[in-house]
Amino acid sequence: MVAYEVDGAGRPKLQDRAYFWRAPEQSGGEYTKHLMMPKAGLGNENKMHALVAQHEEIISQWHAVPGVRPEGAPVGLTQAADGSVFIVDDRNAAILRLSVGTSYTSQQLSHVPARDISAKSLLPPSEVTALLKRRCAHCHNELHKQPEQLLNLDRWLQKSVEANTLMEQRVFKDKVRPMPADGQLTPAEKSILQNWFNTI
Ligand code: HEC
Repeated sequence: MVAYEVDGAGRPKLQDRAYFWRAPEQSGGEYTKHLMMPKAGLGNENKMHALVAQHEEIISQWHAVPGVRPEGAPVGLTQAADGSVFIVDDRNAAILRLSVGTSYTSQQLSHVPARDISAKSLLPPSEVTALLKRRCAHCHNELHKQPEQLLNLDRWLQKSVEANTLMEQRVFKDKVRPMPADGQLTPAEKSILQNWFNTI
């Protein structure tokens, strides 16, 4: 997927030369730079001085990589009022969102808990358990039968660099992908969770 710089009328800006990059054929190979040779439409192959627009590659390599991702296919594109761009990928039944700002990086987690969390405090009080079952367990199935698979020091209760647990981060701080993914907690539900977090 490429983008062009545009003029006041929204048309790609033209210049004498434009380049494109070709992906390496072997893994670990180098990208190579090539001059675009515009044909300027059928029958104009000999027109040497056609102007061209320089594109910038925004997303490349939609091909499948075994064990990492299937092939993608961008088939639809629309822009939201805040400038972000939504792309429909029909092969993966996914909607991708490109937005302005700093790029997403998975959270850095420190393995040293800043506060002492004892095995006992990992067992949530019954109102927390009820809340997790009601608001989270239809997506995070482990919460029904083996909540300790998620509520442990390597997973949801692991501290992040900001000294929040991953769970606090996703429920209270995360602006990009807040939890629950299907609607906010009520203030009462938030305070049930906050009270529990304060004790661990
Ligand atoms: C509608 C489905 C849905 C609901 C409801 C939901 N989640 Fe999630 N949750 C997801 C999905 C999908 C992911 C993985 C993708 C992501 O990280 O955004 C996720 C990821 C997370 C993560 C990060 C896990 C990790 O290993 O990085 C945490 C923590 C989390 N959810 C907590 C919660 C809590 C707490 C609730 C309830 C208050 C909740 N979620 C409700 C779908 C849901």
